[in-house]
Order: sequence, then structure tokens, then C-alpha cells
Amino acid sequence: MSSNNIDSALIENRQFPPASEFTDRARIKQADFDRLHQQASDDYVGFWAEQARSMLDWQTPFNDVLDDSKAPHFKWFADGTLNVSYNCLDRHLASKADKTAIIFEGEKGDTRHITYQQLTDEVSQFANALKAKGIEKGDRVVIYMPMIPEAVVAMQACARIGAIHSVVFGGFSAESLRDRINDASAKMLITADGGNRGGKIVELKSACDKAMAGGCPSIEHVIVCQRTQHDIPMQEGRDTWWHDAIKGQSSECAPVWVESEHPLFLLYTSGSTGKPKGIQHASGGYLLGAVMTNLWVFDLQDNDIFWCTADVGWITGHTYVAYGPLAAGGTLLMYEGAPTVPDAGRFWRICETHRVSIFYTAPTAIRALMKLGDDLPNNYDLSSIRLLGTVGEPINPEAWMWYHKVIGREHCPIVDTWWQTETGANMIAPLPGVIATKPGSCTIPLPGIAADVVDENGNSITEANKGGYLVITKPFPSMLRTIWGDDQRYVETYWPKFDGKYYLAGDSARRDADGYFWIMGRIDDVLNVSGHRLGTMEVESALVAHERVAEAAVVGRPDDIKGEAIFAYVVLRGTRPPDGIDEELTKELRNWVGEQIGPIAKPDNIRYADNLPKTRSGKIMRRLLRNIACGEDITSDTSTLENEDILLQLQGKS
Ligand code: WT7
Repeated sequence: MSSNNIDSALIENRQFPPASEFTDRARIKQADFDRLHQQASDDYVGFWAEQARSMLDWQTPFNDVLDDSKAPHFKWFADGTLNVSYNCLDRHLASKADKTAIIFEGEKGDTRHITYQQLTDEVSQFANALKAKGIEKGDRVVIYMPMIPEAVVAMQACARIGAIHSVVFGGFSAESLRDRINDASAKMLITADGGNRGGKIVELKSACDKAMAGGCPSIEHVIVCQRTQHDIPMQEGRDTWWHDAIKGQSSECAPVWVESEHPLFLLYTSGSTGKPKGIQHASGGYLLGAVMTNLWVFDLQDNDIFWCTADVGWITGHTYVAYGPLAAGGTLLMYEGAPTVPDAGRFWRICETHRVSIFYTAPTAIRALMKLGDDLPNNYDLSSIRLLGTVGEPINPEAWMWYHKVIGREHCPIVDTWWQTETGANMIAPLPGVIATKPGSCTIPLPGIAADVVDENGNSITEANKGGYLVITKPFPSMLRTIWGDDQRYVETYWPKFDGKYYLAGDSARRDADGYFWIMGRIDDVLNVSGHRLGTMEVESALVAHERVAEAAVVGRPDDIKGEAIFAYVVLRGTRPPDGIDEELTKELRNWVGEQIGPIAKPDNIRYADNLPKTRSGKIMRRLLRNIACGEDITSDTSTLENEDILLQLQGKS
């Protein structure tokens, strides 16, 4: 990466300081913020020890705060023990047993309110069911479920007994599910007959059956939650209905105390190779990041209704649905379905009905809803909303301003939160009662988070608006511990530069004259489609697995709604279709990729060529392909191309 390549053109000068009505009642005020920053810079380790002691309940208090003797395999609070589910549930019962923990709304409009007492009972009962099926501390359990409370119950039940869950997003295909089950050697699969989404049934159980038919030798039991109640086959001896599994189980289950470093979960995410990485998080450090950011960034207070729209299949749904709000003793809202059912006012209707006060979603959703005009949100009473959040990709200032004006009615702070699956929790984000926001910037790192922008040599870039690598220069509790089963890939992926001293986030960024961070995009071959990460190699591997495809190259191109769209160049076995067009095959390949990975990975464009442009060393010239996909002038040196005619083909001109 050359540095001029990541210099930025975008300069956005508007500033929005928090209104005093917000600041007056915010958890963190200016003085608190100053004190926290001072503490973190005076005594970094002491700062984190204090947070961990005050925000979490420990069964055995820790003395070792940070162990960096085997860096970059860091340990936090290693001699302490705790239980994550105890911290999310039991510890609130004395004061909040009857408080609503989860408000659920199904796509068809059914609703449920679940109190802390009820949730504790359900989690305990299901944990007992897991134990009855032989699940023990350290066993891996894959969860493939719709957005219903039972998904959270399943996750919390695993945490209660020290089992390691790996949630697979319900939009991933049977193939993807099987790969994840096998990579983790999971003993159990928890699913549902289906979920309601977009007015249709998502056939989760049949995807599980297909995955298992392809070979998942480690799976001993499948538990199936009844949601849609349509007919599905159950395999005798292997499959058990959730309601049968909990029958006769006690609703008391003593939490299993685990070491702070005990893995809480794996979550697979894309990287620069074709194989997703099982990001491994530790119990204590992760939960600390989750609860702290819910309190500080989302200012979660006792009477708030907190709605994070992310699916539990993504890290956002782990930290800001399944764990953080509960650890903070808050009330969260969970919605099963699509934002457009029965119409695109659904989100706003839910906000009105349930008096949502904190709303957290992705720029892609904001842009899609913005396109439909102001009338939809204006039809609803959004006066309960006091704080807005965004995550997943840089938000364009236009969408930010719409969010601010039309949804926030110009009085709600917007927290633009930069973080990753790997960081477990928000890293760079405004504290809403303190920091003035700027449309498109995630502002400044949280207290205790040491983020920097550095050049090729690892030197901090002090010049305003000059782009560089976004790095984290000190270990932090909620960071990933490793990639499941692949310590070497962990080291090579995240610590490859700067003598292994800094965590390399994989994003480029710049800082403006006020020290605000502006994320500029990925530096690796990772696409961001609707806020979801997809490796170009993953899509390429899926394409070449098709019998008619010889070679494929995939790049991203900007898309108004999705952020990035997928553009695939394909070389077929045999001859290129006339004029490079074959609509039948294009349809087939798109569906094929959908089956291999999931619908989000379907290429938006496919262009057929005789060859791919490569350098002499055989590397695909991606920048050139990107230029073409974006309809831009070709800026790369094409002199190494063997066959100049290929350019016309790639451009779709011959
Ligand atoms: C990548 C991480 C963390 C939950 C959602 C995505 C991009 C994330 C922002 C933001 C600009 C952002 C980065 C990052 N990203 N949040 N507020 N502004 N970019 O999780 O799939 O692990 O992806 O998403 O490129 O590296 P993920």
C-alpha cells in the first residue's frame, strides 16, 4: 500500500456537540471522561483492573491483571474466575427480578416480555437440558437460529455451563454451516424448524439436515426449537425438540465458574483467504468490554429500551443483544424479521410501540430507509428515542444527516462506533454526553483504548488527514485471543508488521486536525457488503468450485445502499460466451454462490473473459479490476499485461 493511495479527499467540518438535556443525565460527563482518560494514561493496567472489579462479579477475585509474557497471546485477569451468565442474570435478581430483560416482537406481530427471573429460569432449564445431552465445559455447541429469545437463551445456557458456543448466522448456507461445525468439532447443533423473515419461512432445519448429510461426524445431538410449526423431518436418536429436551429439567442450574481466559465463544468471520477464521473470545475480558461500552457509549440506564437491530449471528448481536445489555441489567428489544414487513415503516412502528430509547443499526439500513423518504418515519411517534448508533462501515454524511434530522429529530447524539469481530466491543466511538460528533467520523478512542494511525514503518502519523494503517498499540481485555485451532494464522494476520508490536486492524484511517478518526476502508482483500464482511477469496473459491468455472476474480464496487457490491470476473472452462453474455449461466452462478456461502455473497455483476489480468509473477491485478468495476479510468500500469485486448473484454466492450 502506498501512502498516497490512502490519502483522503473527504473533508467534513460540521460538528454536533451533545445537547445539555442529554449531557445533564448522561452516565459519563466531561469530568468523568477526563478522569478516566487520565487514569488510563497514568496507570493503564490499574485502569482496567478497576473497571473489571467494579463492572463484573467475580467468584474468585483476580490478582494478575495483564499477562503479556507470551505476547501476542495476552491474558487478562487470568487467576480470576467468574461466570458470564451469572453476570448477565443472577446478579440482577435481588433488585430486578421482575424487570423486563427482553421485549420480543416476531415478524408476524407476536410479542413477548421476558423478565430477568423468567430468563434466568429458562436459561437454567435449558442449561440442564444441555448437560443431560452430555455437554460439558469446553465442548463446542453450534447455534443456527432465527432472531428469537431462544437464541439468547441457548447462548447464555452455554455460558452458564462453560460450553463454547459458535453462532452461525441463519443466512449462511448449509455448506458454510458444515464447515463451521467441522472446524470447531462441535458436539451439538441447536437450531429451529425455521424462522420468519421477509414473509417467508427460513428453512433452518433443512439446512442443518443438508449440512449433516454432507458429514459432520462430531455432532452427537441436534436440538430443534419449534418456531414456525411447519412440518420438518426429525431424525430419531439424533434430533430432539427443544420443548422435549427441557421437559422435567429443573429451572435451577448452578453456574460453572470458569477461569477468566476460558473461551466464551467462537465466531467465524472472513479474512483474506478462502477459509473463515474462528475468532476466539475469552470470558472475562470480553464481558468487560461488552458491559462497559453498553454503559459508556450507549449510556444504558435503568429505564431505557435498547434496540440493536443486528442478528445474533454477528458480533454486534453478541455484544449488544445477547451479552452487553443483560450484563448491564438493561431492557433490550429483539425483532425477528425483515425491516420491510409488512412495509418499510416496521422499524419505526416498533420504536413507537415499545418506546425504544436507544436505537443502534447499520449505515446500509439507514440508507435503504432514507431512500424511501421522510413520510414513513414521520408517521410514527419517535419521541422516545434519545440516542442513535451506527456500525459496520463508514457512514456517508448524507445518511448521517438524515438519521440526525429525521430519526433523531435533531436532539439525539449519534454514536458512530468503530470496532470489529476481533475487538469484541466498541473501540473508537464518542461518549455521547461528552464528545461533539462529526458526520462520518467515529471520533476518538474510548478511555483505555490505544488506537493510532501509523505509516509503513509503524511511526505515528501526526499530519492531519494523512492516511495510514489503523493499529491498536496496547492489548485490551475484549480482544480476540486467537483463531480457533490456528495460533499461527492469528499471529500472521493481526501482528504481521511493526515487529509484532501493534494489533493491525486491517483498516486504513486518517485523523483530522482535532484528532478525530475517519475510517477509510479495508487494506486487505475483504469486502464490506451491507456491513458484513466477506473475503474476495471466499467468493472466488465458491465460483471456481462450479464445474464450468476455470478461474475467477472478485472485487468490490461502491453501491448506494449496500456500501459495496460484489463484481466477479469469470473465466470459463471452454469458450467464452458470445459477447461475454450468458444470462442463464449468470443466474446459475449467482445461485451457486448463494448455496456455497449464503445469499449475501451472490455477485451483483458477473463478467466473462478469456483471461484475467495478471502480473508477471502471476498475481491478479486487482486494482485494475476494481477500476473497471467502478467504471473508472485505469490507473494501474498495464504494460505487464500479455494481452492488451483483454482490457476491452474486461470492460465489457468486446
Ligand atoms: C470492519 C469489521 C463491528 C461490528 C460490525 C462489523 C468496518 C465497522 C465501522 C465504523 C467505519 C466500520 C471496518 C472494520 N467497520 N464499524 N463505525 N466505521 N467502518 O464487524 O464484520 O468484524 O467488520 O467493519 O472495516 O474493520 P466485522
